[in-house]
Amino acid sequence: MLRGRELWLAAITIILLNLIYAGVIWWTREVPASGDLFGHSLGILGFTFMLMTETLYSLRKRSRNARWGRMAHWLEFHIYTGLVGPYMVLLHTSWKYNGLAGITTLLMVVIVGSGFIGRYIYTRVPRTVDGTIIEGRASEAALRKARRMLALWHAIHIPLGVAMFAAAFLHIGAALYYATFLK
Ligand code: HEM
Ligand code: HEM
Repeated sequence: MLRGRELWLAAITIILLNLIYAGVIWWTREVPASGDLFGHSLGILGFTFMLMTETLYSLRKRSRNARWGRMAHWLEFHIYTGLVGPYMVLLHTSWKYNGLAGITTLLMVVIVGSGFIGRYIYTRVPRTVDGTIIEGRASEAALRKARRMLALWHAIHIPLGVAMFAAAFLHIGAALYYATFLK
């Protein structure tokens, strides 16, 4: 199940991203602007990763008979893209958090934090490699409690994601209109 491999891979990717980011600063002698080639690319690529995070695992989860990859691997991938994507977007922000773009960033950080809480609860419930909950291994009451916690967490995590994507699409529309096309 979740053994932390996805966290290590995300950490290694983030270190590589930091090296590239530092290299660009060294080369240009300035912090990459959100709307310049490098900063813009980070925003688009990171946001693509976030869209994959939002959709792919849910799609796989809802197709129980599907053969395309184990659920556990899809969840690992969900967490990997759910960390690397927001990190790229963080490098895209150029460390300025005004207005709508700032609110979007805040929501993004909150949902990543919420993801860690969900990961913790998720690993408390014993499962098969395919993500199905194993009955009877934990005591009945403890299992019921963990399931209830996970359901409550879903009820918070999912609307947070919807709010973040709504804000992100508004920001993207406004940024493209004012900063890209009007230039
Ligand atoms: C969740 C995803 C995203 C977040 C949280 C985010 C956040 C931000 C932040 C904080 C800024 C700096 C605003 C400022 O300078 O005050 C910014 C700028 C910008 N963003 Fe994003 N961004 C995201 C995705 C995107 C995407 C996908 C695109 C392009 C398709 C984009 C295009 C831009 C542009 C063009 C600017 C520069 C605006 C300007 O120069 O005034 N952003 N973004
Ligand atoms: C851009 C960031 C993220 C977004 C938009 C996002 C979105 C979602 C969504 C929509 C679900 C519901 C899936 C479903 O039941 O259909 C979910 C579940 C989950 N996410 Fe995320 N997530 C993000 C980041 C993370 C991170 C960083 C972690 C872990 C550190 C994480 C861990 C989990 C876990 C454990 C579940 C529950 C899986 C289950 O109950 O089957 N997520 N996420």
